[in-house]
Amino acid sequence: MIRIIDCGSQLTQNIARRIREFNVYSEILPYSTPVDEVLCDGLEGLIISGGQFSIHDRGAPIYDEAILEAGVPVLGICYGQQSIAHLLGGRVQSTSDREYGKTRIHLSGHSPLFEDISFQALDVWMSHADIVTYIPDGFEVIARSVNGHIAAMQDLNKNIYSVQFHPEVDHTQYGRQILDNYLSICNARRDWTAESFIDTTIKRIQDTVGGGVAIAGVSGGIDSTTLAVLMQRALGDRFCGIVVDNGLLRKDEGVEIRKSLDALGVNYAFVDASQRFINMLKGVTDPDEKRKRIGHKFIKVFEEEARKHKKVKYLGQGTLYPDVIESVPLYGVSSTIKRHHNVGGLPEKMALDLIEPFRDMFKDEVRAVAEKLGMPREIVWRHPFPGPGLAVRIIGEVTPEKLSLLRDADEIFMQELKSRDLYYDIGQAFVVLSSGMSVGVMGDGGTYQNVAALRAVTTKDFMTSDIFRFEWDDLQEMTNRIINEVKGINRVVYDTTQKPPGTIEWE
Ligand code: XMP
Repeated sequence: MIRIIDCGSQLTQNIARRIREFNVYSEILPYSTPVDEVLCDGLEGLIISGGQFSIHDRGAPIYDEAILEAGVPVLGICYGQQSIAHLLGGRVQSTSDREYGKTRIHLSGHSPLFEDISFQALDVWMSHADIVTYIPDGFEVIARSVNGHIAAMQDLNKNIYSVQFHPEVDHTQYGRQILDNYLSICNARRDWTAESFIDTTIKRIQDTVGGGVAIAGVSGGIDSTTLAVLMQRALGDRFCGIVVDNGLLRKDEGVEIRKSLDALGVNYAFVDASQRFINMLKGVTDPDEKRKRIGHKFIKVFEEEARKHKKVKYLGQGTLYPDVIESVPLYGVSSTIKRHHNVGGLPEKMALDLIEPFRDMFKDEVRAVAEKLGMPREIVWRHPFPGPGLAVRIIGEVTPEKLSLLRDADEIFMQELKSRDLYYDIGQAFVVLSSGMSVGVMGDGGTYQNVAALRAVTTKDFMTSDIFRFEWDDLQEMTNRIINEVKGINRVVYDTTQKPPGTIEWE
């Protein structure tokens, strides 16, 4: 296992993911983790991540220096290189020659980190304003940038390596090779696969829960369903999934969720709380207020149901990495973009310990796990659906009438995408009921009805997205069906906004 000491870079998860792509298990720890918790059985290497701080800033993430003396091969990346230099007696200074983006470096000397790279010059991706100006005793420089700055250094005796650039970024030439070489330096066992993840996760859940009881909220989406299957396999009768129908689900979704959980052999309780949610959304138009209320109500309903299960000590959550960084400021560095109601809140209130096996993972990695678990294609490749459901797809007040319009339009859009074989080419698609009304003509009469928007995006990890490029005929035929069949919508538009600057959901 490789552990990554997170010093706050947005790219830390990309390092973890790249390492897992080499079939080596990797996980992330906050920089403040004490050294005895960092070191563990099976630890093969330690990576110190980048970060936005200067080592000289007040509040800069300074990890336990003993980490560097533990005898485990270390790789420092960007801030990782600067912090290693600083902690081991070198010097770090700010420079006016800051390097951002593509930068050429020249390799020198010999390093196992650059094994099998036949070029002496590489274009790499940099992002830094500080540089190492003196290397610590025992170190040697193994690469310099065109500006003469130290781009990589090593201490072969201590097995410590560092690079000023980001090998985890696609724009770095031979970035993957450098990480691969580091794993060879670590003698890392390359046997981590979706299958081994399943085995170790089941075992970890069993070890954590012991003879206790665990519950988890299940929405029917890929993350929570995969988690429920793993917890069911680990705990059997000592696990119960809780499905809350918040009245904001898509058409017939409650029934569909029950059917799939039955087929997967997952134990669950189904709570129909639709009316309670709809009542408390009356008159609410502000997006954040909607999310807040739905989040609080969800916690309340969930708590009530959880109390019926005696001796519950653990709560499973299918939280993914993108949920984490978009919801919680990670160690004070990444800003909150949107309130994801399924992260935070619940465990503190109920004094439950969390089980979050996917916290460091991306959706496509969870999908690989789900496939290995034998889950059906409709669940594995189902588009994600947000916790606050259709409430964030109805702009303005959520009413039963608008919910019904949106459900009907959305169902037609999904049917059409599936029958046109487009559904699985799209990362996420849905209809939004805008707050706009428009004038139209239908038959002999004029109409004044709602405007709906179609949204379809392609994305790898939902952190960024591009629009799906439909054929015009497809778009127009789908538009016609919605307008003809849904009484109350007389105009359909297509949303061509990328993320960023937009988000995928409208609210
Ligand atoms: P945004 O709109 O933030 O969405 O670009 C990124 C992905 O997250 C989903 N999403 C949510 N999922 N609870 C969830 O479980 C939420 O509150 C939430 N808000 C957005 C969104 O559907 C997309 O897949």
